[in-house]
Amino acid sequence: MKFTFSDLSLPQAGSIALPVLADRTLTKTGTDLDARTGGILTRAMAANKFSGKADETLTIVAPGGVDLNHILLIGLGKPDQIKDTTVQDAGGAIVAALGKNAAEVSVVIDDLPGSSLAPAQVAAEIAFGALLRSYRFDKYRTKEKPEAKPALQSIAVLSGDAAAAQDIFAKREALAHGIFLTRDVVSEPANILYPRTFAERCRELTEIGVEVQVLDQEQMAKLGMGAILGVAQGSVQEPYLVVMKYDGDPGAADKQPVAFVGKGVTFDTGGISIKPAAGMEDMKWDMGGAGVVLGLMKALAGRKAKVNAVGVVGLVENMPSGNAQRPGDIVTSMSGQTIEVLNTDAEGRLVLADALWFTQDTFKPRAMINLATLTGAIIVALGTEHAGLFSNNDGLSEQLTAAGLKVGEKLWRMPMNDAYDKAINSDAADVKNIAGSRDAGSIIGAQFIQRFVNNVPWAHLDIAGVTWAKKDSGTVPKGSTAFGVRLLDRYVADVFEG
Ligand code: BES
Ligand code: MN
Ligand code: ZN
Repeated sequence: MKFTFSDLSLPQAGSIALPVLADRTLTKTGTDLDARTGGILTRAMAANKFSGKADETLTIVAPGGVDLNHILLIGLGKPDQIKDTTVQDAGGAIVAALGKNAAEVSVVIDDLPGSSLAPAQVAAEIAFGALLRSYRFDKYRTKEKPEAKPALQSIAVLSGDAAAAQDIFAKREALAHGIFLTRDVVSEPANILYPRTFAERCRELTEIGVEVQVLDQEQMAKLGMGAILGVAQGSVQEPYLVVMKYDGDPGAADKQPVAFVGKGVTFDTGGISIKPAAGMEDMKWDMGGAGVVLGLMKALAGRKAKVNAVGVVGLVENMPSGNAQRPGDIVTSMSGQTIEVLNTDAEGRLVLADALWFTQDTFKPRAMINLATLTGAIIVALGTEHAGLFSNNDGLSEQLTAAGLKVGEKLWRMPMNDAYDKAINSDAADVKNIAGSRDAGSIIGAQFIQRFVNNVPWAHLDIAGVTWAKKDSGTVPKGSTAFGVRLLDRYVADVFEG
């Protein structure tokens, strides 16, 4: 999708989109157009009970009196309540409403009386939202008819201060490219994207100034990563641990980086504790956490964020085989702690145990945040509205929650404590990877991970419910959401660049 930004004007032909405020309040351009069409906008709004609330859209096709094909009205709601995300969702709505039929759309952004957002900001955010919603993973659809494919190729945004809009958009576009990388890798099937090919995608970040180090099985064995290697041993695909380092603030007084760690199970069959067949294909996106870390590193480097950040992903495939780990096996993790593996399907926590230990040991991060599609139980608890947040630090939790609210990626903090922790004491080893019952499954997973976290502010985001969307919404087409990239990009901006 191509975007151009230019000064405010009223296009005479083609398709246009216009914001409308609450109570059918038209902008200046809307009022002009209404007059020129003999009141068609006013009549259409009344006829379709369109009131201008955020999320409402109304498409007027081939109106008389002007040469336009479409006039798309997009509700923004009450002006004093318009947020970045309101405008981004409006951008998404343009793609949803006209993407199939219009090759080019002009969006006319007048001043919005009563809103604190400057026209340049509105112009940039609406373009960002449209860009995010226009994402499609269609590389394997070789027989799709051209007329079934989206028609929309370019969006012209017309507003005051177009140069400023262009500057803001350039940063958002870098973020979008990180998000698209995440969506791409998460969408790939597991026969194409497996640990080695995922590591290759990580390596490509060297082109934008990220230092990438790929540890192979032998190196991982030398480091004593028995937990992640135990998961990998049932697969013919070799595991990798990839480190991505971005030094965007070389002059920082405090050199400690912020660290992001991702679960990268490129396919999770459950292993010997095998999953049922129905829905198992979803487990191609069990590398969603690692996908977010990869896309985030791309976004931070792409927009030249002023931060020192390190991303670590543990890449494995969890398969049953004659060589697979068995329930009851005891493995020794890099931390030295022994783990009784009572369920080979609780593998993400085994991956994170070594990846987190390695990260804190190697980089002494000032904060460490991991993301993982860790438990089905978090979907039972929170559905697809919030990701689960588990943390040993109130300040970090508040920063992450606030960042999530600003970008529309909501977190809900879950409890952790010693009583839950006791449930994973093992009779045979230092810790076991599941508790004796199914109670509080997500918390148990978090408690297990925490056993491998020392004195560092740490947060675990259980993104199992938010990584894949079954329906289109706002700025996110159905499929891989990249939930976490925007949130952590915002966290970095607020906490390290603010
Ligand atoms: N990858 C799954 C969790 C998952 C489930 C992610 C559904 C996305 C959608 C994870 O490895 C897993 O299998 N967890 C088990 C843990 C259990 C064995 C303690 C689960 O949630 O059932
Ligand atoms: Mn599993
Ligand atoms: Zn898994």
